[in-house]
Amino acid sequence: MNIGTIGAGRIGGTVGRLWAQAGHHILFSSRNPEQLADLVKAVGPNAHAGSSREAAQFGEVLLLTVPWPAVEEALSAAGPLHGKIVIDTTNQFAAGGLAQLPHGMSALEFNSQRANGATVVKAYNTLTAGFQSEAAGRSGPERVVMPYAGQDAAAKQVVAQLISDSGFEPFEVPWEFVHAIEPPRRAGTFYGEEWHLDTARALIAQLVAKK
Ligand SMILES: NC(=O)c1ccc[n+]([C@@H]2O[C@H](COP(=O)([O-])OP(=O)(O)OC[C@H]3O[C@@H](n4cnc5c(N)ncnc54)[C@H](OP(=O)(O)O)[C@@H]3O)[C@@H](O)[C@H]2O)c1
Repeated sequence: MNIGTIGAGRIGGTVGRLWAQAGHHILFSSRNPEQLADLVKAVGPNAHAGSSREAAQFGEVLLLTVPWPAVEEALSAAGPLHGKIVIDTTNQFAAGGLAQLPHGMSALEFNSQRANGATVVKAYNTLTAGFQSEAAGRSGPERVVMPYAGQDAAAKQVVAQLISDSGFEPFEVPWEFVHAIEPPRRAGTFYGEEWHLDTARALIAQLVAKK
């Protein structure tokens, strides 16, 4: 699959590399694409670099992976995204702490509204880039769960396959519990913690029981 990244820092570089290793074609983007030369070389022949607009045109799927305060500007530079699936890795950290979102809205809902017509699925945001790099590809009961959430069934199916290709266990978190994959870090949620299939299932059962 052709995948464009909007941003290519710690998360973008890591996830893009994992997908490239699985045979996907990646167009990493930066406001200064020439500075991605080392990344492209390290990832190998499945990787290229360009602008975010080029990445948006190239990818059937886009990885949105810029700091929260830059999301608006980055999406605007990427251009129209109708028909695209955006995998949102962002967390709502602003200067001075967590960004306040309107009316208890999740960061996923907030970004879905400003995603230039794309279908948004959230994933790759609960674990650090360093941990994702180290933990990808584990097997059996040690395989690390990658939680994802979204509203569009077809898009979620595509994202689940990409999560699997990158070496993690795709694990859908129901829309009503999307806050459990977003900051702040708190006990009994997915954000900031390593989960495996058995413990993740037990956690969802607990969340359902508490409702
Ligand atoms: N790091 C982690 O462990 C981690 C874990 C989970 C989730 N996240 C989330 O993932 C997102 C990316 O984090 P990161 O740590 O990978 O960030 P990072 O290493 O600081 O990289 C940020 C990327 O965003 C791009 N960028 C910055 N400002 C931009 C703008 N105004 N327009 C377009 N692109 C811009 C930068 O590209 P240029 O080359 O153009 O500067 C760079 O590629 C954040 O929302 C973060 O909360 C991070």
